[in-house]
Amino acid sequence: MSAEIIPVIFDLPDANNRSVCSTAQAWAKAPVEPSAEERAELIARIKRLLKEQDAVFVAHYYVHPDLQDLAEQTGGIVSDSLDMARFGHEHPAKTIVVAGVRFMGETAKILNPEKRVLMPDLEAECSLDLGCPAEEFAAFCDAHPDRTVVVYANTSAAVKARADWMVTSSIALPIARHLKERGEKILWAPDRHLGAYVQEQTGADMLLWQGACIVHDEYKARELAEMKAQHPQAKVLAHPESPRAVIKLADVVGSTTQLIKAAQASSAREFIVATDNGILHKMRTLCPDKIFIEAPTAGQGANCRSCSHCPWMAMNGLANLAETLEGGRNEIHVDPAIIPRAVLPIQRMLDFAKQINLPSSGIGNA
Ligand code: 13P
Ligand code: SF4
Repeated sequence: MSAEIIPVIFDLPDANNRSVCSTAQAWAKAPVEPSAEERAELIARIKRLLKEQDAVFVAHYYVHPDLQDLAEQTGGIVSDSLDMARFGHEHPAKTIVVAGVRFMGETAKILNPEKRVLMPDLEAECSLDLGCPAEEFAAFCDAHPDRTVVVYANTSAAVKARADWMVTSSIALPIARHLKERGEKILWAPDRHLGAYVQEQTGADMLLWQGACIVHDEYKARELAEMKAQHPQAKVLAHPESPRAVIKLADVVGSTTQLIKAAQASSAREFIVATDNGILHKMRTLCPDKIFIEAPTAGQGANCRSCSHCPWMAMNGLANLAETLEGGRNEIHVDPAIIPRAVLPIQRMLDFAKQINLPSSGIGNA
């Protein structure tokens, strides 16, 4: 069965105007690299502040390597979005500090309303979240009451509050299979590429919202095929937010954690990586003898700075993290009226992950 496609009902900036869109504002806010001295001072200050404030630091693989290392050195975690949610939820700290993008902070708050959740920059958005406004999404759901609503983690609290299930890329396939087995038809939002991939892998009946990630949408299949020809031994690792033609060329498709684990487990020595280049830090640390090459994006001559790196993830830095902790500012607030409803699809996903024993930081069957 093929995925049913609805017309695009919102406007995302395209490759031609991206340099003047909100990503440019995000890039303008990307912190300046500190000097070696400043860096050491900031790291020491943040370590002290985390302890003093009973705070745990949770980071995504796409943020700056300094932040990834700091999360691990301070007893926090660097992980994919599923494990960020699980770890923060299970950790006893009173404050969760999230280095990532807004939906990650909101998910932590929804799961832990009694805790303080801080982020280095509250304007760190995500094109998938921005491209799925709650009111339009509610109208879409109202028009298809016969479908089970499944939303990706990369959505606002209000969109989650309208959903039956939340998924992340590491658990999307098992949940879609489960729903198919129960004979349920799915309304999927917002990522069209991930949705099409899940539909193709599971055969589930899915109606797709037409959102996209501005980073992954840029990977180019023709240039990737050329790169593969130049590196015939290389395995291609791709995130399922990438376009279908790119996924078709991949050896492994999975969440960020799944791709890292696949690189570790593989006997190959060379990899072409179709996901945000922030992930290369972890891959290179864990596999120092292996070679990792960024998959091609907009091609030669492009002047788009967002290629292969998320401009909103880049807004997280040591200095704004230290300031956040020091001033207790940049606290994530989610409307308390929404939380009881928004937590249901997230908790359903977490319970399902437990039920199927989805390993923490493990490789799924993508
Ligand atoms: P993961 O859950 O695979 O880490 O993906 C999050 C994300 O935003 C990818 O662009
Ligand atoms: Fe959103 Fe894409 Fe950035 Fe991930 S990489 S946070 S999907 S814009």
